[in-house]
Amino acid sequence: MAKPSSVFVCTSCGAQARQFFGKCASCGSWNTLVEQKAAPAADSRRRRPLAESSAGLAAAAGQPRRSEPIQAVGERPLQRLSSGYGELDRVLGGGLVPGSLVLVGGDPGIGKSTLLLQSARAMAGRASVLYVSAEESAQQVKLRWRRLAQVASGDSDAGGEPEAGADFQLLSETDLELVLQELEALRPAVAIIDSIQALHDAELGSAPGSVSQVRECAAALARIAKRQDTALLLVGHVTKEGALAGPKVLEHLVDAVLTFEGDRFASHRLLRAVKNRFGATHELGVFEMRDRGLAEVTNPSELFLGSDEPSAGTATIVACEGTRPLVVELQALVSTTSYASPRRSATGIAANRLHQILAVLEKHLGLPLSRFDCYLAVAGGLEVEEPAADLGVAAAVVASYRDLTLPPGTVLVGELGLGGQLRPVGQLELRLQEAARLGFTRAVVPKGSGLAKAAAGLGLQLLEAGAVAEALVAALGVNPADDRV
Ligand code: TYD
Ligand code: MG
Repeated sequence: MAKPSSVFVCTSCGAQARQFFGKCASCGSWNTLVEQKAAPAADSRRRRPLAESSAGLAAAAGQPRRSEPIQAVGERPLQRLSSGYGELDRVLGGGLVPGSLVLVGGDPGIGKSTLLLQSARAMAGRASVLYVSAEESAQQVKLRWRRLAQVASGDSDAGGEPEAGADFQLLSETDLELVLQELEALRPAVAIIDSIQALHDAELGSAPGSVSQVRECAAALARIAKRQDTALLLVGHVTKEGALAGPKVLEHLVDAVLTFEGDRFASHRLLRAVKNRFGATHELGVFEMRDRGLAEVTNPSELFLGSDEPSAGTATIVACEGTRPLVVELQALVSTTSYASPRRSATGIAANRLHQILAVLEKHLGLPLSRFDCYLAVAGGLEVEEPAADLGVAAAVVASYRDLTLPPGTVLVGELGLGGQLRPVGQLELRLQEAARLGFTRAVVPKGSGLAKAAAGLGLQLLEAGAVAEALVAALGVNPADDRV
């Protein structure tokens, strides 16, 4: 049978099909299949000389490739290179590892180029850096460089000209072959590719940014980077649906995937590790976009705390992002509905979670919440995924419903079970420390924490509760289930 001359490739997962489907059979996304000339990728891979693969390398060095006992495997101390940003280092797991591959994804305009250029600039004094700008001309990068302030002194006047000793090479190029040549010639300690979707391998028939292009370009860069111990930072764009374009293929290939996100209407940006072979995932770095680039926010809890004046319907929780505790304010508004089915809206927290908490409150406190609209928002545009926020949500909702104000200085932490019980949460001590550091004086937590003494040492009054009703009575000082409140 003749080979079909074109294939249909899913732009989301990279799966191939012989014919067009509205829905990708592999990942289930809709309208993601695009037609491509049958990829010569497979053929060229077969033709690639053995010496380029790692097996080939070992063979070339005269040692047949064999397994070896783990004790015999030499260990090299991990020498991490600081990116210049404490926040970026934290997300990377303590700095950039030589020879590692890091993918930085995010919406267009969120600040990926700014982040990497600024940290490249900070690194250039200590290590050689190659910055490949495939999207902007060298002039544009230089203009941005002038605009940026030094990382360490976010608001000082330093900026402008590159420092005399900096080893910073700039290449404005989209042709993969030329980028590879430059990488091999310079052997930089750090190389930044901005962006992987804009690179183009002329050997492949498909358009730049297509899955096969992204995959082949990244793989070719990775081979060289690993061989010469260059730390490679790849910028990746996010598709309309919020996934990194060609995500699955790249996620397997790289050592770390960082996502840069933020509210377009606010100046702060959040950097998260969703995969990290050299550190913990779910670490969070917080930045603020200023007129002279990104400055790090070392005390992010202040961002997510609302007004100083407590008001009805607000509650404060301590969420944990990785190992980082964040004190966050939640706001709820409960009002009589004028619809047949009441409106529920949640910003920064999963809608399902809110529905579940409302159902628990209705059942176990007897509050007729199904006759009320309920809106919930997390201050500062943060997304809180943890169930540890449940008790805070419940308190905010109940406080709004009863028009009550929680006593100032109160934080609430706890997961709600469907039976109305309060479940323990992880890293409680860390959360209490953060709350105490920010001047909170009362903490409502699930019972059995064993932290009463530690809390007293922190100057926190610890209120332990086994069930949501009990916790809310402790937090509010009155029984919200009592209709006379
Ligand atoms: P950029 O790094 O180009 O985003 P990305 O590479 O993710 O597409 O960031 C561009 C945005 O950041 C742009 O809207 C302007 C803004 N910005 C500042 O507010 N201050 C600055 O100092 C810089 C360089 C950019
Ligand atoms: Mg950019």
